[in-house]
Amino acid sequence: MMKKKLCFPDWIPLLLLCHLQLPTLVCSKHHGNPANDLVEIINQNRTAQKLERLNDSPGLGCMALQYVELCKGNCSGNSAVNCKPPTDDFTEVFAPNCGVELPTIGTITGHIVGCQLKYTEPSLAFANVLVKDKKSLSVLRNKSHSEVGVGLIGFHKGPFFWCVLFSNGGTNSSFVLEDRGEGIKQKKGCYSGSAFPCNAGHRSAMLFNYIITFSYLFISLLNQIWLT
Ligand SMILES: *[C@@H]1O[C@H](CO)[C@@H](O)[C@H](O)[C@H]1NC(C)=O
Ligand SMILES: *[C@@H]1O[C@H](CO)[C@@H](O)[C@H](O)[C@H]1NC(C)=O
Ligand SMILES: *[C@@H]1O[C@H](CO)[C@@H](O)[C@H](O)[C@H]1NC(C)=O
Ligand SMILES: *[C@@H]1O[C@H](CO)[C@@H](O)[C@H](O)[C@H]1NC(C)=O
Repeated sequence: MMKKKLCFPDWIPLLLLCHLQLPTLVCSKHHGNPANDLVEIINQNRTAQKLERLNDSPGLGCMALQYVELCKGNCSGNSAVNCKPPTDDFTEVFAPNCGVELPTIGTITGHIVGCQLKYTEPSLAFANVLVKDKKSLSVLRNKSHSEVGVGLIGFHKGPFFWCVLFSNGGTNSSFVLEDRGEGIKQKKGCYSGSAFPCNAGHRSAMLFNYIITFSYLFISLLNQIWLT
C-alpha cells in the first residue's frame, strides 16, 4: 500500500523544530534565563577565591537590563563597550522604570559591561566578554559587594550586550521591586531573578524559522493526503 509512504521524511520537521530552539536562549539551565546562569558563574568564581556569595537581586538585574538597553549602537568591537549613561540615570530613570521602591535604592559598588556580535552561552560570555582583564576581575572580586544583578539584550542582527551590577545592600532591603516586579513591562532581553522568561530579541529570526517549519509540516501533510 502507498498509504504509509511519504515524500518527506517525518523526522525533518521535528529536526527543524529542535533547531529553532538551539541558537536561542531556551537551552539555559535555569528556566531559560542565561542571566541567572551568569550570576551562578560569578558566584562560583568568587567562592573559589573564598569570597562571599552574592545575593541575586531582581531589582539590580532589571536595572542592569535598563542600562544595556541604552548601549545599542555603542559596541566598539572586541567586546568593548563605549557606554556610560549619566550616573543620575540609575535613580532617575532605571529605578523608576523597574519599579524599584525609592527608599530602597542602594549604592552601586561596581559594574561590568560587555558586548559581542552574537549571543554566546554565559560561561563563554563570562570568560571572553565580561571578565577578561585584571580590571574587571578586580571588580568581580571586590569585597564591598553583597548582591548582584545581570541584564542582557540582543538587538536585531546583533550586537549582544551583557551588564553586571553590584551593590552592597542588605538582602531584602535594597532595590526592592514593587509588587515583586510584576508590574515590569519587559519588552526585550532578560535579567536575573526575573519572574518572566527571556525575550531574546531574536524574535524576527524565530518567526522566520517558525514559518519555514510550519510550511514544511503543511507540505508534508498535503503529500500525505495526496498519496492516499
Ligand atoms: C554612545 O556613543 C556616543 C558616541 O560616542 C556617545 O555620545 C553616547 O553618549 C554613547 N551612549 C552611552 C549611553 O554612553
Ligand atoms: C571596591 O569597591 C568599592 C566601592 O565601589 C571601591 O571604593 C573600592 O576602591 C573597591 N576596591 C578595590 C580593591 O577595587
Ligand atoms: C575566575 O575568572 C577568571 C577570569 O575569567 C579566570 O581567569 C579564573 O580562572 C576563574 N576562576 C575560577 C576558579 O573559575
Ligand atoms: C528575604 O526574604 C525571603 C522571602 O521573604 C526570606 O525567605 C529570607 O529569609 C529573607 N532573607 C533575609 C536575609 O532576610
